[in-house]
Amino acid sequence: MLLKQPIVDAINAQVTEEFTASAQYLAIALYFERETLPELANYFHLQAAEEHGHATKLLGYINEAGGMPIIAPTRAVKNDFSSVEECIRLALDQELTVTAQINNLVKVAMENDDYLTNQFLQWFVTEQLEEVSSMTDLLNIVKRAGDNLFRVEEYLSRTPHPGAGANNGAA
Ligand SMILES: [Fe+2]
Ligand SMILES: [Fe+2]
Repeated sequence: MLLKQPIVDAINAQVTEEFTASAQYLAIALYFERETLPELANYFHLQAAEEHGHATKLLGYINEAGGMPIIAPTRAVKNDFSSVEECIRLALDQELTVTAQINNLVKVAMENDDYLTNQFLQWFVTEQLEEVSSMTDLLNIVKRAGDNLFRVEEYLSRTPHPGAGANNGAA
């Protein structure tokens, strides 16, 4: 196979993180549904699908390069929340954590002279810029809206959702 086993192991570990992120976003979307915030719910359903796409992209890469893709249980996710801001802060923290994990994966690839994996991972490096940037924007909007969550809903209803376009990992 094209990949060294430590690289396969590291990518498989990231698969678990992406599935965990997907499950966490789904839990957040379901909370927004309970709170009758349909635009926020839709936004997080899309994010959940996007993270699922990231996991699938990583698994496909391992398969294509002759390694053994492993689907492991996700880590625990938070299912209940007390405010919109709490959810968006959690989401932003998660994106910052994933960004650090992707950067570490690149480091492992470089340490192993794995140019193929390094190049493959660059898509994720760029994707994280978009993910952190859009979640930071959303947190700012939520903080500015205060108690008036209709403003957040209105903002989302007229903002093209990141990930719904050409750069979607699920595509
Ligand atoms: Fe992701
Ligand atoms: Fe993400």
